[in-house]
Amino acid sequence: MIDALPANALPFASALAGAEPFPSRATPRLVLREFEPDDVRAVWRIFRHEAMAPLHNLAPMGSLDDAKRLLDWRIGQWPRGYGVRWAIALRERPLDAIGSCGFDFHRRSHGAIELSYDLDPAQWRHGYAREALRAAIACAFDDSLGRPEVTRIEALTRPVNPRSAHLLQALGFQREGLLRQFRLWRDTPDERVDLECWSLLRVDPIPS
Ligand SMILES: CC(C)(COP(=O)(O)OP(=O)(O)OC[C@H]1O[C@@H](n2cnc3c(N)ncnc32)[C@H](O)[C@@H]1OP(=O)(O)O)[C@@H](O)C(=O)NCCC(=O)NCCS
Repeated sequence: MIDALPANALPFASALAGAEPFPSRATPRLVLREFEPDDVRAVWRIFRHEAMAPLHNLAPMGSLDDAKRLLDWRIGQWPRGYGVRWAIALRERPLDAIGSCGFDFHRRSHGAIELSYDLDPAQWRHGYAREALRAAIACAFDDSLGRPEVTRIEALTRPVNPRSAHLLQALGFQREGLLRQFRLWRDTPDERVDLECWSLLRVDPIPS
């Protein structure tokens, strides 16, 4: 899920990010690259899809301007030191984003970063999310993000999102428990929803 940066969040990598080149990656079938302004239509298409509606926590995308606001936030994350967001694209069509993944860098004192991701529903069930997240996780734990103190990757999912839980399990994440009434959600503005908390530690084995 993608939230606005909390007012009290610490820019985690502010001293390094800006100065560091964006950590693009390639996998057998995919590229993980920096977002560009031209990705606005892809972002719009993905988040307008009806299958995505119950699964993400963004304000409804009523216009391309809403997609642009999200895109601007994503593009600014790395240079501002708030995190990293990769656009995911197929190798043969690197300009066409089919999803994204990334980490929010907060809670510096905990050594934890929060993973989130999305994939165009037209591209589900090909293993692309798994492949992209393996590369992202390797980048986090091999210190390419410039933060050797990262010891823990967290992910929060809604209990109504078994596909996401399945993905995290396949990547070796452990379910730690249910965070009760933890976060406001777009379809429950007056009530906080429960979220499952998952984690992968630097020392955990990652299934092949
Ligand atoms: C979560 C989400 C990314 C998962 O997408 P997905 O397509 O299920 O995940 P993957 O790309 O890893 O695909 C895995 C499936 O592809 C299959 N697959 C097919 N070819 C494959 C290949 N070559 N390699 C690996 N897996 C392959 C796997 O068997 C698996 O199928 P299964 O679910 O029936 O077991 C997607 O549902 C999504 O974007 N949800 C909305 C956003 C969201 O929920 N974010 C989470 C909160 S941050």
